Amino acid sequence: MPDVLIAEDIRGNAVDALSSRFEVTFQPDLWRDPGALATQLAEFRALIVRNQTKVDAALLRSAKRLVVIGRAGVGLDNVDVAAATRAGAIVTYTPDQNAISVAELAIGLMISLARNIPAASADTKDGNWNRRRFWGTELYGKSFGIIGAGRIGFLTARRAQALGMKILACDPLISRDNVMLSELNAELLPLEDLLTRADVVSCHLPSTPKTTKLLDASCFALMKSTALFLNASRGQVVDEAALLTALQRGEIAGAGLDVRASEPPEVSELEKLPNVLLTPHIGALTYEAQDRVTTAICEDVARVLDGKAPLNAVVHC
Ligand code: MLT
Repeated sequence: MPDVLIAEDIRGNAVDALSSRFEVTFQPDLWRDPGALATQLAEFRALIVRNQTKVDAALLRSAKRLVVIGRAGVGLDNVDVAAATRAGAIVTYTPDQNAISVAELAIGLMISLARNIPAASADTKDGNWNRRRFWGTELYGKSFGIIGAGRIGFLTARRAQALGMKILACDPLISRDNVMLSELNAELLPLEDLLTRADVVSCHLPSTPKTTKLLDASCFALMKSTALFLNASRGQVVDEAALLTALQRGEIAGAGLDVRASEPPEVSELEKLPNVLLTPHIGALTYEAQDRVTTAICEDVARVLDGKAPLNAVVHC
């Protein structure tokens, strides 16, 4: 009987190792066809996905043999954990493995925006030498505000701190004596205060009903007109229309977005603004992170198939 169905492009040594012990079917484009996926999944004990496959109640209805769903990544917005639990399948994921890469991308977006690196590079490649056109802003001594102080927020803030920035944090789930805050010498603030004070605001939030469009027009109105806004978490946490208006009106100075409300996004006025940097959800896409993610998810799926407890089960409360 088949064991593991991989419905997205997830490969590497860890997949080979899993295939040496279990019957693994690799169908990297299967996520595009939910009907075909549902039909095939009926046979399998394990499903491994990245962020494209919609693992919802409808899909799980046919998955009578399924015992484990492996999400190769950290966001769980494409997996209905409650439905999986009802269907008797454990959901496991890789909360820490790509955090460094996402943090590095957020810092890259910040430095690129502060120093106009993409525009200066494009202009220079055009044969120009416009030194005075690309004045920038120093980050040293400025305030870096993280909204969401989980692992990725922490790692991003630590890198900002290394640049000499002061760290502000907002997270209703942590308390003032949190060890991470002490390590960062960070101030824990309500959202409004963080938005008012930060020179750079960086989002590190999951997409949930509570965080949907959390960053709206009222938030952008509170930010400094010199502030930069970064989002390498989930696009749904930002009201994109409000962000566009804030940028057009000069309510904030610039934005770096790796994620969008819908992906791929409709082309909008956002794409035309010179003070906006856009990347196509590449935060986790480094060789190192993907190697760790793939290894962790394959090992955890194997543990469940072997009858052991997974290391990173998602608990549904
Ligand atoms: C994550 O959630 O791990 C990253 O956003 C990348 C992905 O969705 O696979």
